[in-house]
Amino acid sequence: MSKGRILSGMRPTGRLHIGHLSVLENWRKLQAEYDCHFMVADWHALTTKIEETESIKANVRELVVDWLSVGIDPEKSVVFVQSQVKEHAELHLLFSMITPIGWLERCPTYKDQVQQLGDQGKDINTYGFLGYPVLQAADILVYKGDAVPVGEDQVPHVELTREIARRFNYLYQTKVFPEPKALLAEISLLPGVDGRKMSKSYNNEIAIGATTEEIQARVNAMITDPARVRKTDPGNPEVCIVYTYQKLYNPGEVKEIETACRNAEVGCVACKKKLAAVIDQALTPYREKRLELLAKPSIVDEILADGGEKARKVAAETMAQVRDAVRI
Ligand code: TRP
Ligand code: SF4
Repeated sequence: MSKGRILSGMRPTGRLHIGHLSVLENWRKLQAEYDCHFMVADWHALTTKIEETESIKANVRELVVDWLSVGIDPEKSVVFVQSQVKEHAELHLLFSMITPIGWLERCPTYKDQVQQLGDQGKDINTYGFLGYPVLQAADILVYKGDAVPVGEDQVPHVELTREIARRFNYLYQTKVFPEPKALLAEISLLPGVDGRKMSKSYNNEIAIGATTEEIQARVNAMITDPARVRKTDPGNPEVCIVYTYQKLYNPGEVKEIETACRNAEVGCVACKKKLAAVIDQALTPYREKRLELLAKPSIVDEILADGGEKARKVAAETMAQVRDAVRI
């Protein structure tokens, strides 16, 4: 029995990295329990990429290939692209009529992003950007999503979605919309190879589809204990990025590595070599699936065409009820 309906999504901003795996593994598991809809949020990508739209289409494919390669299964879940389903835009418009501007200005993600992009010299003080969470609410509610599996950073948007659903139901005296819950994945504790937050924009990430060579290069770039200059110096694994990764990717050997490091019995070169090998092993199935999909691009086209059709059907049903409630 399905526990309800799930809608979640990501923006197509390029290849995913291993920091995204905790969210994706959560999606993969939930496929067995819920009626899942996974959406590529290409309209959302437009909110911050007003003049660099040329990469969006290619990124949509990359993202879908990444999803499929980690086990998102189009036989179980509806996989589609936001802009294929115009009902999202209609619901966004109706929601924009009832959403107080203060709710959006107070949204922590909005304040952060304006600040961050402002620091980079980008001005995104647009109407569309302010309304980002309203579009996200439409994404979720047009499928009457009960649950939204996301990372912690998206919680304010799910909160706003609940508030918009409540306000709509109250204003139009209806029960069309559920109040969806966020389903949090375990937080990824993996830093980027330089110790900062893992992000493509810092060039410190390991892509899910990384080649063996790319993995080796990234592991080689990892920051080790800076006080350990020679192999004969005892090391402190607590301050070493390689060790942080060993804990996750090499749990069987981690105790041994810790002791050997503290006693100067293992060198950083050998330690990194071992880590690159275990990460490579963990990512090999994803890489193989990915290559299979890239070799036959029509598979992705077919999945998205089918997903778009299924999504539109659900969205159209909801919108009929919504128009009825609004009397428009
Ligand atoms: N804002 C989400 C992100 O940046 C992407 C997204 C768009 C989304 N619409 C959604 C996530 C609906 C969950 C539900 O990751
Ligand atoms: Fe880090 Fe391994 Fe070097 Fe110790 S031996 S400092 S854990 S890379």
